[in-house]
Amino acid sequence: MGRRKDIAIELGAEDGRPVFLALAASITSEIERGRLKPGDPLPGTRALARSLKLNRNTVDAAYHELTMQGWLAAEPSRGTFVAHDLPDFGPAQTRRGIASKASPAAATARRPMLRLSDGAPDARLLPAAEFARAFRNALAGPSFLTACAHGDPRGSPMLREALAAHLKEERGLTAAPDDILVARGSQMALFLAASAVLSSGQAIAVETPGYPLAWAAFRAAGARVVGVPVDGGGLDIDALQRLAEREKGLKAVYLTPHHQYPTTVTLGAARRLRLLDLARRFGLAIIEDDYDHEYRFDGRPVLPMAARAAADHRIVYVGSLSKLLAPGIRVGYAVAERGLLQRMADRREAIDRQGDLPLENAIAGLILDGTLRRHGRKARRVYQARRDHLAGLLNERFGDVASFALPAGGLAIWLQLDGGVSAETWAARAEGLGLAILPGIRFALDATRPPEAFRLGFASLSEAEHVRAVDLMARAGPAQE
Ligand SMILES: Cc1ncc(COP(=O)(O)O)c(C=O)c1O
Repeated sequence: MGRRKDIAIELGAEDGRPVFLALAASITSEIERGRLKPGDPLPGTRALARSLKLNRNTVDAAYHELTMQGWLAAEPSRGTFVAHDLPDFGPAQTRRGIASKASPAAATARRPMLRLSDGAPDARLLPAAEFARAFRNALAGPSFLTACAHGDPRGSPMLREALAAHLKEERGLTAAPDDILVARGSQMALFLAASAVLSSGQAIAVETPGYPLAWAAFRAAGARVVGVPVDGGGLDIDALQRLAEREKGLKAVYLTPHHQYPTTVTLGAARRLRLLDLARRFGLAIIEDDYDHEYRFDGRPVLPMAARAAADHRIVYVGSLSKLLAPGIRVGYAVAERGLLQRMADRREAIDRQGDLPLENAIAGLILDGTLRRHGRKARRVYQARRDHLAGLLNERFGDVASFALPAGGLAIWLQLDGGVSAETWAARAEGLGLAILPGIRFALDATRPPEAFRLGFASLSEAEHVRAVDLMARAGPAQE
């Protein structure tokens, strides 16, 4: 890596694009032809703006766009560099030489992928300074020594207390701190829940299409996973009843009632009541995965089923901070009656002893000082605008081959394709153009027919990134076949 270079960069043809995108394209082509290499510094924005006779904001926007796409990396107080993890494309002549020999190096020289996730948040919105302060407090404050020791397998008492208050206020759950287990993400909570409510070989009913990682957790816990179809109203309760009548080993049901994964539908009040009734009649435990409760944009709030359940229902309520914070910050939790929660805690202790107490205490601090609430408010506002933006683009570009119901909440749109359009083929072609999108087959259990649809997360990408993603989707789409 050298000092900042005065490398000359030319502004390519605008072709009707905004100028910052034309500049971004010029820079990527310099990287692709090997004139700019991984780790090379880019000119300062002021200097480049001066030499190209552009506004400095335009250069800033181009650098920002390329940083988001993974081409460039911004290093605080040092400048902007070509990302280190890009392949070295080599000088133009060498690259042609390599390509003609079809070497693996040429095959891996690919554009960074743009991803429409399955509903991830945008970690770029996290309040970095407040986070740093909370972590510093957790590592240097009075609770640090306790946090360094072995502790309760249910997790940090501070965080369980903060969650209990939060769940009571926001979600109508009357859990005490002792009814809560903090896990490393809801993934661990799902595994612990299944291993606490099911014996080996017993069955759990799940939604199909549904959430494959939950099925993996249940299978890892020794359960048999049996699909129940989902329709436009969510889990088909009649089908669940038929299954419960014929399948004697059925002991639990797993569902995502707030925003069904992947179809985004909210399970209505009548179905919820019928489900609670069925669970009682057939002795089924309910695992309620409320993975994105924070995001409700339209209509009235919908409380979890766990807030309405009676004392004789066995419900494990599972929540996650992955959608409010970021999936790499591994904090989820389960709420259940004490006997059940104790069984989960025993199993947790066997595989993980306890969680990461400094992390959990830092998160508790962020709840207590209001940072998470403020961040949640901001994230909701931004994501609602992104939902509407992506919805507008999808209507405009794909109204003739696809349709969707605007989701009232959650972080994804379920785009259903008209007859004859294959989501899998479309996704494969998009991948070839540098766009990752998730076709319905990813969410189908076993041999059930995969829905011809995409789950398109709108929160993790900016509006400019949406435009690029939808452009790539259009280029890969059925009209191009
Ligand atoms: C249905 C569902 N449950 C749970 C989660 C959260 O998992 P975790 O808390 O393990 O990150 C996700 C996605 O992140 C999800 O889509």
